Amino acid sequence: MIKLKVNGAARQFDGPTDMPLLWYLRDVLDLTGTKFGCGMAQCGACTVHVNGKPTRACITPMSAAAGKTIVTIEGLSEEGDHPVQEAWKQCNVPQCGYCQSGQIMQAVALLKDKSKPTDKDIDTAMSGNICRCGTYQRIRQAIKVASGQVKA
Ligand code: FES
Ligand code: FES
Repeated sequence: MIKLKVNGAARQFDGPTDMPLLWYLRDVLDLTGTKFGCGMAQCGACTVHVNGKPTRACITPMSAAAGKTIVTIEGLSEEGDHPVQEAWKQCNVPQCGYCQSGQIMQAVALLKDKSKPTDKDIDTAMSGNICRCGTYQRIRQAIKVASGQVKA
């Protein structure tokens, strides 16, 4: 039996321990804000926080989630009004939107780590999150808007 916490709620899982955390979040808990892109840690669409660290849920087995605290895009705020989500709206970042929950989770982790990141910090932190619509400039702009507003 695997015990973990997801978006503040205690959970138990007694299925296969090699099942990807992404499957558990989407198919068992119905938290479909986290997306499946590549399944190979190559795109960042599935990014969630595991004990506060941005993590690719597609390659994280349930065994590695045991005892951990998971936060998904649904757990970031109740009303979609986390400072990073507000900055995303202000800058009209999404195009198709598919990559954006992963982008936001990655950006939140960056801003918790460095409240006022440089361009280089942003490029380094966000380089593994691919956007096929090419919204990179607006992502960078929104991260700057949210700078200094995210508590560590
Ligand atoms: S789906 Fe996980 S990194 Fe692409
Ligand atoms: S907004 Fe379409 S993939 Fe990023």
